[in-house]
Amino acid sequence: MPFRKPLSQGTSRMPISGIRHIMGLASEIPDAIHLEVGQPDFRTPQHIIDAAHQAALDGYTAYTPNAGLTSLREMCARKVQERNVIAADVDNILITVGSEGAVASTFVALVDPGDEVLVPEPGWTNYTMLTHARGAVPVSYHLREDEDFLPQPDEIESHITPQTKLLIINTPANPTGSVYPESTVRAIVELANRYGLYILSDEAYESLIFEGKHVSPARFDTEGRVVTAFSFSKSYAMTGWRVGFAVAPIEIARLMIQLQEPYYSCAPSVSQKAAEAALSGSQACVEEMAAAYKRRQRAVLDTLKPDGFVAYQPNGAFYVLMNIASTGMKSYDFATQCLLETHVAVAPGATFGDAADPYIRISVATNDDAVIEGAKRLRDYAMSKSEG
Ligand SMILES: Cc1ncc(COP(=O)(O)O)c(C=O)c1O
Repeated sequence: MPFRKPLSQGTSRMPISGIRHIMGLASEIPDAIHLEVGQPDFRTPQHIIDAAHQAALDGYTAYTPNAGLTSLREMCARKVQERNVIAADVDNILITVGSEGAVASTFVALVDPGDEVLVPEPGWTNYTMLTHARGAVPVSYHLREDEDFLPQPDEIESHITPQTKLLIINTPANPTGSVYPESTVRAIVELANRYGLYILSDEAYESLIFEGKHVSPARFDTEGRVVTAFSFSKSYAMTGWRVGFAVAPIEIARLMIQLQEPYYSCAPSVSQKAAEAALSGSQACVEEMAAAYKRRQRAVLDTLKPDGFVAYQPNGAFYVLMNIASTGMKSYDFATQCLLETHVAVAPGATFGDAADPYIRISVATNDDAVIEGAKRLRDYAMSKSEG
């Protein structure tokens, strides 16, 4: 063996996504029902595609400034002022490669090796991955089904140490679909203020709210500690365009804009023009897609709640966590066996943290028939395993 230095130890500790594992298996099953991925089944609305096409013809094919097109940043600033009640102007905005770009650069701007990052469990795997990639330590705060998977400030507080730097919140949440009420959001900002923590608020699903309203923590931020990640992916079915944006207090925004240069220079220019069309055009497409996700989420709940496989109320995003504890199976085994026997693919709960092992995640971002049939097969499969 030639002498080589080891790969990055932090990055090598990143967990592997269980969703990709099930997707790989499901790709071998031609009639599989795909409830495993969070990929909208809708096409990007035509007026957005047309605007991007025109922009490419008009020469929007080159780099933009690191922070993004000023015209788009201005639209984003107006959007968050009006819809999220965040006091931001153009200097607080940077256009990123997906909202993932905003999430990732928040980590790079704020987190150093050895810092502790408070992550929700169950929660989106990428927060844990990024924490490891920074050589930092993920510390889970737990969300419980009997509390509607809502964060409890006391529970979060019990995990705060002098090393805690960043607190992640995500509403509406992946993988639970929970929508955090205003009182919870306020209490979390107050907690962060008391301990001097930064907050990263991931609001990728903000337009998919079926009950209640979306509340952005940044509206209560009087001390410049909340960074918000917004996405075009889910609201406008634009996952492949890779465009999102961050809203950050000025000092943090400057650092994040500076980071764009060595990471990816800027978000794709054509996608930035597409995002402008998304924000300036009719929002009817957003409402139509949200109505479909709501209908499907409700259909899953109608199938699974009566037998106790769901005992909480998701009110947003396009997910439901199904409780499979009665089967006694581990979530990877359930997801794999259920796929092989019933041809329904779901995400194993354990991929969202160990505490989520008694669950599987159902995504309703596919057509109504598939969602309804898939939910029935999941219920019947879980019932058969529970009886045994
Ligand atoms: C909670 C959450 N945040 C962010 C993202 C990333 O979205 P984008 O396509 O904007 O990078 C996802 C994608 O699944 C997500 O589930």
